[in-house]
Amino acid sequence: MSITVAAFSGSLRKESFTTKLVKAFQKNAPQGVTVEIVDIGKLPLLNEDLETNLPEPVRDLHASIERADAILLATPEYNRSYSPVIKNALDWGSRPAGENRWEKKPTAVVGCTPYAMGAFGAQHHLRQVLVYLDMPALQQPEFYLAKVAEKFNDKGELTDDHTREKIKELWAAFIPLINKLK
Ligand SMILES: Cc1cc2nc3c(=O)[nH]c(=O)nc-3n(C[C@H](O)[C@H](O)[C@H](O)COP(=O)(O)O)c2cc1C
Repeated sequence: MSITVAAFSGSLRKESFTTKLVKAFQKNAPQGVTVEIVDIGKLPLLNEDLETNLPEPVRDLHASIERADAILLATPEYNRSYSPVIKNALDWGSRPAGENRWEKKPTAVVGCTPYAMGAFGAQHHLRQVLVYLDMPALQQPEFYLAKVAEKFNDKGELTDDHTREKIKELWAAFIPLINKLK
């Protein structure tokens, strides 16, 4: 088995829990699965004027999506919605018009919050956009990580066994979907 998953964190903050979560997914990926964490912090804000000469970070994003068999989107929750950083990447990945690079890429959505409800509102707004981009979403298991500050140590390592089990359960469901659509 050889699968490449492009993983995106919706937070640019250095100590981001969302990025720590993405790294935990990377570390706990099954054998044969390579998780490439894509840097979307250098993408310009979407501007159609830039489409005549795509900036290098946009071209890099396009290449990352193209070489991926699947996508992992990790979002924080901002005012009960998902990260504008993720939206910006989704929009750039769908441009120029008629060149939606996300199309048919199996996609898993996860999220976390230091508070309650596990970024539920964020994830469901994000799932709505996947419909239009034609990204087949892993429906179950869902992944809502609450109280995330208690789940990682100060080196950014996951310390919570239950969360690790949930990560493994998600991979166990995601891999068959990826292989089916590959
Ligand atoms: C503008 C803003 C809005 C927020 N709204 C929510 C929210 O609706 N729900 C929630 O659980 N946390 C909310 N938070 C708190 C974030 O979950 C918290 O800052 C989290 O650590 C951000 O993710 P990160 O650690 O990956 O950067 C908000 C934070 C900001 C900055």
